[in-house]
Amino acid sequence: MRWDPERYLDYSAERARPFHDLMGRVAATAPGLVVDLGCGPATLTATLAQRWPGARIVGVDSSEEMLAAADSARAAGVELVHADLREWRPPGPVDVLVSNATLQWVRQHLELLPRLLSHVVPGGWIALQVPGNFTAPSHVLLHELADSPRWRNRLGADRVQRPAAHDAGDYVAALAALDCAVDAWETTYLHVLPGEDAVLEWMRGTGLRPVLEALDESERTEFVDHYGAALRAAYPRRPYGTVLAFRRVFAVARRLDHDRAEER
Ligand SMILES: C[S@@+](CC[C@H](N)C(=O)[O-])C[C@H]1O[C@@H](n2cnc3c(N)ncnc32)[C@H](O)[C@@H]1O
Repeated sequence: MRWDPERYLDYSAERARPFHDLMGRVAATAPGLVVDLGCGPATLTATLAQRWPGARIVGVDSSEEMLAAADSARAAGVELVHADLREWRPPGPVDVLVSNATLQWVRQHLELLPRLLSHVVPGGWIALQVPGNFTAPSHVLLHELADSPRWRNRLGADRVQRPAAHDAGDYVAALAALDCAVDAWETTYLHVLPGEDAVLEWMRGTGLRPVLEALDESERTEFVDHYGAALRAAYPRRPYGTVLAFRRVFAVARRLDHDRAEER
């Protein structure tokens, strides 16, 4: 799917919040190699270069559009790699591996965790964050409309990729089975968004993208008219803005080091 970095960064402050909360639980002090899988425009990856100025920081993404918008990260010394994270191999043992708001786009990503962990040094960290809001009206209404008789031949689940993620407990079980000490949690942010059709505009940056990509221009207008009306009813605009409950799932795991107890 094609990403639009400008639109994705429309709500950059709100989208950044879970990343900072996630990284706040990673206690690495002097990592050598830090990898951000699915770094997107890498504005958040660049904050890792500020936090760990001595580290080699590598951002990996499969979207040329996103990487083309990553100049500020490049200027901050982040190395950017155009690759599919499912196949990419890091240039050496990884001390901190991050994947923020990305694994929901990778089918069956729990099965990928053993391979990702195999790149992390004993005592190193893996930190991931995914959406936990697939039962929220923003997604339910989108999929109900896509599955309706008018659209299902074009937009049904077998035609257009739908992001998917697991509950926090599933990440705990998967990572603990890989010899990690796991810290997992969930947070629901209540974002108060300004402007008209705020939730529709929010969804245009992420979950709505693959749906609109599958349609021509007149179909897009028709679909967005219906979806926008449903969202306006589900998320009424208040004098102070439109409230979007944004539930996220977090897991930070440290690979147990059976030989050494000190921090990396
Ligand atoms: C929602 S954006 C998150 C970007 C960034 N991590 C952030 O938090 O701002 C998801 C990113 O994952 C990337 N992505 C999705 N599947 C991928 C894959 N298989 N390999 C590499 N990147 C992938 C997309 O290209 C996109 O840039």
